[in-house]
Amino acid sequence: MLGNKILIIDADVVSRNFVAHNLTEQKYDVLQADSGKQGLIFAWRDHPDLVIIDPTLADLPGEELAVKLRQDPRTADIPLIALSSASSSVRIKSCFEAGFNEYITKSEQAVSILNETISRLLGHTNAPMKQGGLLTVFLSAKGGTGTSSLCANIAMNISQNKPKARLVVADLVLPIGSIAPIVGYEGEQNIVTITDMSPENTTPEFFSKELPEMKPWRFNLLAGSPDPESSNHLNVGRIWDIVNALKASYDYVLVDIGRALSKITLPLIQNADLVALIVSTDTSTVSLTKTLLDYLKNKGVNVSSIYAILNRAASMEGLSKTDAEKALGNKIMTTFPYLGSNLAFANSRHRPFSLEFPKNTATIIFQDAAREMESLAGKLRRV
Ligand SMILES: Nc1ncnc2c1ncn2[C@@H]1O[C@H](COP(=O)(O)OP(=O)(O)O)[C@@H](O)[C@H]1O
Ligand SMILES: [Mg+2]
Repeated sequence: MLGNKILIIDADVVSRNFVAHNLTEQKYDVLQADSGKQGLIFAWRDHPDLVIIDPTLADLPGEELAVKLRQDPRTADIPLIALSSASSSVRIKSCFEAGFNEYITKSEQAVSILNETISRLLGHTNAPMKQGGLLTVFLSAKGGTGTSSLCANIAMNISQNKPKARLVVADLVLPIGSIAPIVGYEGEQNIVTITDMSPENTTPEFFSKELPEMKPWRFNLLAGSPDPESSNHLNVGRIWDIVNALKASYDYVLVDIGRALSKITLPLIQNADLVALIVSTDTSTVSLTKTLLDYLKNKGVNVSSIYAILNRAASMEGLSKTDAEKALGNKIMTTFPYLGSNLAFANSRHRPFSLEFPKNTATIIFQDAAREMESLAGKLRRV
């Protein structure tokens, strides 16, 4: 495809040929190496655009190979995919630490996941991100800042303001999602079961029809991981494509990332139309948020797309808005007051705050924030 050259380094000839055949059919130029050392020579000599490595190579473990490739200026920036029959979390972690971009387990679905991953890493599918529904991610530097509660309630208000629009909330907080307990969803389907589905089935039509509609909330839900054990099995390589499919089938896609900033969620943040950054008023959260903000700016996240929300999630401690702005070096767009036990009460009844407490000032703040965020996301998309 587009003359891209892909190097496969795998000692298992059957597996290597299988992958090579699949890539050749897609018009990639394919190079093959049957050992780590040979792979290294080919990579440095032939400048492939991407390298697929089985990390269980006998002569040179994939991790060492990745480190060597990353250290050499000729290959430092090449996307590296681990394609392995080993699926232990220790191995996955060590591969990511060594510099692999993705880790795919050899399985029946590996070929389609591999193909999607290659297109994405080579930049063929990154462009559509800016099309489709508006993507807003909800992010915080620390847990307990109110990210999930605000995400669900702001989503509900956006939907209320735009009755014709279709809205989906996706919970990507690991290891346990918390939107489902807030909105009262108890079904079996969640991000783990969905990433386990074959990519041919996770189409925009599927997400449009099969995600549960949460009635008083006015949005459809892609529930998060139900427990840490499930989250260990989450097929993270699928997330990018799933979010893209959501954008193809909904007008607004809101993703709760919580504090789960990672290699997987960073591209979503970088490609979001709006980044809702939830900050609680205690000094330690504000200072952690400053670190997070600097990191995001460093990673090319557009400052004007950051919508900082100060949320007084606890009654005691509290920086003022001005103090928080000074400490963050960033404007605060909205401030939520301490809501006492009201928010927890609404959450425990699985009801939107504004339906439970229509006369509370926070109901107006939710409405205003929703309107402002929706309009800002739309404006940013047009520039
Ligand atoms: N402004 C607020 N006033 C009172 N309680 C709040 C406020 N914001 C959040 N909370 C409470 O804080 C707890 C954590 O909220 P949650 O939305 O789960 O945060 P996060 O997703 O950041 O971990 C919940 O019990 C919620 O009811
Ligand atoms: Mg949360």
